[in-house]
Amino acid sequence: MKSIIVLGCGIAGLSCAVALQDAGFCSIRILARELPPYTTSDVAGGLWFPYKAEPMHRILAWSKVTFQEMMRLRNVPEAGITMTRFFQLFPKQLYRDAWWSGAVEVYRVLTEAEIAAEFPNLPKGQFPSGFYAEVPIAEPHKHLPYLMQRFRARGGTIEHAHIHSLEEVAEPHTIVINCTGLQAKYLVGDDNVFPIRGQIMVVKNTGINRSITIESNDERSEYATYTIARSEDVIMGGVAMENNWETSIDEATIQGIIARCASVEPALAQPIILQHKAGLRPGRTEVRLEAETLSNGATVIHNYGHGGSGYTVNWGCAHEVVHLVRVACSS
Ligand code: BEZ
Repeated sequence: MKSIIVLGCGIAGLSCAVALQDAGFCSIRILARELPPYTTSDVAGGLWFPYKAEPMHRILAWSKVTFQEMMRLRNVPEAGITMTRFFQLFPKQLYRDAWWSGAVEVYRVLTEAEIAAEFPNLPKGQFPSGFYAEVPIAEPHKHLPYLMQRFRARGGTIEHAHIHSLEEVAEPHTIVINCTGLQAKYLVGDDNVFPIRGQIMVVKNTGINRSITIESNDERSEYATYTIARSEDVIMGGVAMENNWETSIDEATIQGIIARCASVEPALAQPIILQHKAGLRPGRTEVRLEAETLSNGATVIHNYGHGGSGYTVNWGCAHEVVHLVRVACSS
C-alpha cells in the first residue's frame, strides 16, 4: 500500500485529502507551510465563480462537479456553505450566454429592463447586459476548519513543514499530491506560475442579499469589482494585479474599491469595515493537474495554478486527483 502525502493545506489540498479518504484511502498526511487561518484560501471570498483560471473547458468541467458538491454540502451546517443571488454586469451589449452557465442550476440572461429594476440607482444604459445565477459561497473561515475537522476525524494528520524540494518527501512508495499554489513556482521551479495580487474588505452586512461582479471593457484591467453577500458580512473587492507580489494593504485601493462597489450597491458607500485582507492568487498560464513519475519511482500529482477559481474548481480537481492516484496504485 502506498502512502499519500498532500502538500498544502488551502482549499485545494484539503479537498484532495478529504476526497481521497472518501475514496477509501487512509493514512494520509498533509504537510503545509501555512495552515488555516493563514493560507491564501483564507483571503478569498469563497464565491463559486470561475475567475482567472485556464483552460476554459477543464475549468468548466471541474466547476460543474464543484457546484454539485457544494449543493450537497449546503445540508451540513458546519460546512459554512450559503447561497447567493449573483449578478454579473457588463458595460457593453452581449449576445451570448455566460460560458459557465451550463454548470449552474438557476441562470438567466438579464434584460436591460431587469437590470434597471434591480439597480434603480444606476445611470440608464451603464450596464446594458448581464447574467443572473444562484450560486453557492463557501465561507472560508467556516469551510476550511470544517474540512480540517472532517479530515482529522478519519485519522488524517496535518503538520507544519517547510518543504524545499519534492525529493525531501517523495520516497519510492509515496504518492505526493502537490497543492502548494504559488509556492509551486519554487518547489518545482515552474516559471508558468505567477502571483495575481488581490485586496478585499470584510464589512458588516446590514441587509444586503445579493452578490455582484462588474466586468470591465478592458480584459487586462487591474480592477476586479465585486460584492459578495455572506451570512454575517459582505466582501468588497477588489483588484487583480498580475506579477505583483505586494501583500500589504494599500489605502488608495481601499478608496477605489468603496467607490466602485458603492456605485452599484449604495448601501456600501460608508461600510463598517471589519477587516482588510490582501493576498496573492496562484496564477498560472493554465492549471497544472497531471501525474509525474520521479526518477526514484515516486508519483507526484500536481494540482495547482487555480488563479481566482480555487473555491470554484476544488472538488472537480480533487476527484480527478483521486482518479490519478488510483491509476498510480494499479501500476
Ligand atoms: C477573486 O479572486 O477575487 C474572486 C474569485 C471569485 C469570485 C469573486 C472574486
